[in-house]
Amino acid sequence: MWNQQLVVFTLVSALYYVQAGVPLRRYETLMMQQSPQENPELGLYDDNDKVVRLTATNFNASVLEQNRSSLVEFYNTYCGHCRRFAPTYKELAAELHGWQDVVAISAIDCAAEENNGICRTYEVMGYPTMRYMGPGYKPAAGNFGQSLTSQKINEIRSQLAALIAAENQTANNPHWPNFTPVAEGETVSALFEGLHSQREHIALIYEPENSTLASETALHLLHWPAVQVRRFSEAAVATKYQLDINSNQVALVNRQNHRQLLEVSEQSSAAYAKAIENALLSLHLTPRPRLLLGKGEQAKINNATNKDIVDYVHRNKHLVYQADLEQAIRTILHNEVSKVNEIKGEQLLALQRFLTVLQRYNPLGTNGRQLVSQLKDYVVQFNQALKGADFEQELKRLEAKLGSIYSSRHFVGCIGSSPSKRGYSCSLWTLFHFMSVQAAGNEHSQDPLEVLQAMHGYIKNFFGCTDCAEHFQAMAARRKIWSVPTKDEAVLWLWAAHNEVNQRLAGDATEDAEFPKKQFPSAESCAQCHHGTASAANSEYNWNMEAVLSFLKNIHNPQFVSRYGLQHEELLQDTLEKMRAKRQISNVFSDVDMQMGMFLYAFCIIMMVLAFKLFAFKSGYRKKPYGHDLLGKV
Ligand SMILES: Cc1cc2nc3c(=O)[nH]c(=O)nc-3n(C[C@H](O)[C@H](O)[C@H](O)COP(=O)(O)OP(=O)(O)OC[C@H]3O[C@@H](n4cnc5c(N)ncnc54)[C@H](O)[C@@H]3O)c2cc1C
Ligand SMILES: *[C@@H]1O[C@H](CO)[C@@H](O)[C@H](O)[C@H]1NC(C)=O
Ligand SMILES: *[C@@H]1O[C@H](CO)[C@@H](O)[C@H](O)[C@H]1NC(C)=O
Ligand SMILES: *[C@@H]1O[C@H](CO)[C@@H](O)[C@H](O)[C@H]1NC(C)=O
Ligand SMILES: *[C@@H]1O[C@H](CO)[C@@H](O)[C@H](O)[C@H]1NC(C)=O
Ligand SMILES: *[C@@H]1O[C@H](CO)[C@@H](O)[C@H](O)[C@H]1NC(C)=O
Repeated sequence: MWNQQLVVFTLVSALYYVQAGVPLRRYETLMMQQSPQENPELGLYDDNDKVVRLTATNFNASVLEQNRSSLVEFYNTYCGHCRRFAPTYKELAAELHGWQDVVAISAIDCAAEENNGICRTYEVMGYPTMRYMGPGYKPAAGNFGQSLTSQKINEIRSQLAALIAAENQTANNPHWPNFTPVAEGETVSALFEGLHSQREHIALIYEPENSTLASETALHLLHWPAVQVRRFSEAAVATKYQLDINSNQVALVNRQNHRQLLEVSEQSSAAYAKAIENALLSLHLTPRPRLLLGKGEQAKINNATNKDIVDYVHRNKHLVYQADLEQAIRTILHNEVSKVNEIKGEQLLALQRFLTVLQRYNPLGTNGRQLVSQLKDYVVQFNQALKGADFEQELKRLEAKLGSIYSSRHFVGCIGSSPSKRGYSCSLWTLFHFMSVQAAGNEHSQDPLEVLQAMHGYIKNFFGCTDCAEHFQAMAARRKIWSVPTKDEAVLWLWAAHNEVNQRLAGDATEDAEFPKKQFPSAESCAQCHHGTASAANSEYNWNMEAVLSFLKNIHNPQFVSRYGLQHEELLQDTLEKMRAKRQISNVFSDVDMQMGMFLYAFCIIMMVLAFKLFAFKSGYRKKPYGHDLLGKV
């Protein structure tokens, strides 16, 4: 029997590791606030579920005055009806996990004594009871949340979407979809007004009265930065976009007013979302990168050891980490620039240009933005020469004046298996990739060479790895850096140049064995980026450049830059708001690639069945099958 258990156990833990989530702070924080119940035997939900567990301790922090909604199930562990409903609620939470930036699916156990106060206050009459609390919710007499009456998944999902869509647009939640129905008179350019350049498409969906088809679809697609779903109910709008409201269709419109009609297999939000995803994939657009968490990792998000970080980064190599961007900037300013004796001539110009570009695409918090901006103002005053010591003195004066600048003091994505490995040069690449992508999304910048020129000047004049700098200049000349025609091409130029360096250094003595040099992104990180399967023997990669571009834009989108491992995240509080105001980033989205999660789930179930079959068959003629035999076959 233990073999069966082993198989199940292994598959279940495999499932756990493919749990998809997003590097979104608020959710991470929320999961961390989950305090264990006094009696761990109690409670119907555990770490393997996507249900946020509430207690008297974290209830207010999770539900009250939030920028997103909550669905709260009040239940009693011992109530049979609650137990029967629990699997449904878990399924709902898993299905709607991708909506987490807009609504948290949570539950509180009223059988736990410490929760008595909450269950009393919220006037829970029967168990289970589901209540919806909107953004900004505050409890008040007569307002203890809106009850949801159905216990069927489809109906709960639909009621929830209706409640969410009826909320006033919550401007302070960038993930909130735009539920305002499209009016007949609205032009296509009006639809795109104010949207970030990454939003290349709008999906128009007819939503009949009392239906939530389009609203649910919008929520399902929170993790696709390339599309915004808009609903409409006027037949005239359908006519305008040549949509037949009697069949299942979506109009996909782009900024050039090009329309594509998508036929959907059935009238369900899942089918609509799938049809749109497929259309985006065939346009080589990619979803937001997923976050893969290991067991127990959630609890360590703000308290990670070096080993935790290495494990996390191994699982999430495709992410860009805020900590690395900051380390690069700190090292540039404190070390590389400060240690030059006299900065003059071309070197001074290079510094001025670099600081100008950094000021424009600065990932630091408020204080850090002030620092770079004032430092640049200081440096541009000089037109002959500036002493490194004076620069350092001014840097320190400004840092003392402005207060804390850096939200962390260690590498995360660039962490090495030992302190002498990786680190700064890795973070420097990361910073320049980041800036090149920000420039591509900045509608006020027309110069395709803006970032490449700043980088070239910086590497040539300041980068302390002299042979790297020489290699880079030779490569820049060979790859015709000065003829890059567009900002998108600049992003790809840097990517290709970096891959050339990766190729050259693969297997080099300086390589960190734990982080071998590979062509980036790997097929695991971005399947769409590779045309077909590049065989291991054949190192010629067949890249899909459009998908690579979309992927690079996703991972460097400031909203998706991971804040994992930061010690002072509060310093970044308003960074996203500021960037949004400057339209440097869009109202983009949530995380889980639900489709993928479901697929893997189904896959694991099939594998389990197969494993059992195999076991049953084998045990017929073999008394002691070993666990590893079975696993080997699986
Ligand atoms: C301009 C420059 C030139 C260099 N030249 C040399 C040299 O000539 N000789 C030498 O020994 N070292 C050179 N280095 C250092 C070397 O490239 C690595 O930075 C160092 O070896 C650390 O490697 P790493 O594994 O941490 O990843 P890095 O190559 O530093 O990559 C950093 C991160 O960027 C991401 N990444 C990787 N490839 C790409 C890509 N193509 N596009 C986008 N993102 C990507 C990955 O997430 C990776 O973790 C140079 C560095 C720079 C900045
Ligand atoms: C939670 O909020 C309610 C209503 O604002 C308040 O009365 C209560 O004291 C709070 N509880 C805790 C533990 O902060
Ligand atoms: C939305 O806001 C308007 C005006 O700000 C207000 O009159 C209305 O009651 C609000 N609706 C909801 C559902 O909160
Ligand atoms: C909600 O948004 C407001 C305004 O941007 C911000 O001050 C507040 O901290 C946010 N609250 C949460 C819980 O994110
Ligand atoms: C929509 O719901 C309302 C209230 O339940 C009902 O009065 C109305 O007839 C419904 N409309 C349609 C088209 O079903
Ligand atoms: C951080 O981790 C250490 C060791 O893993 C532990 O002792 C400590 O209590 C943790 N701190 C917090 C705030 O969780």
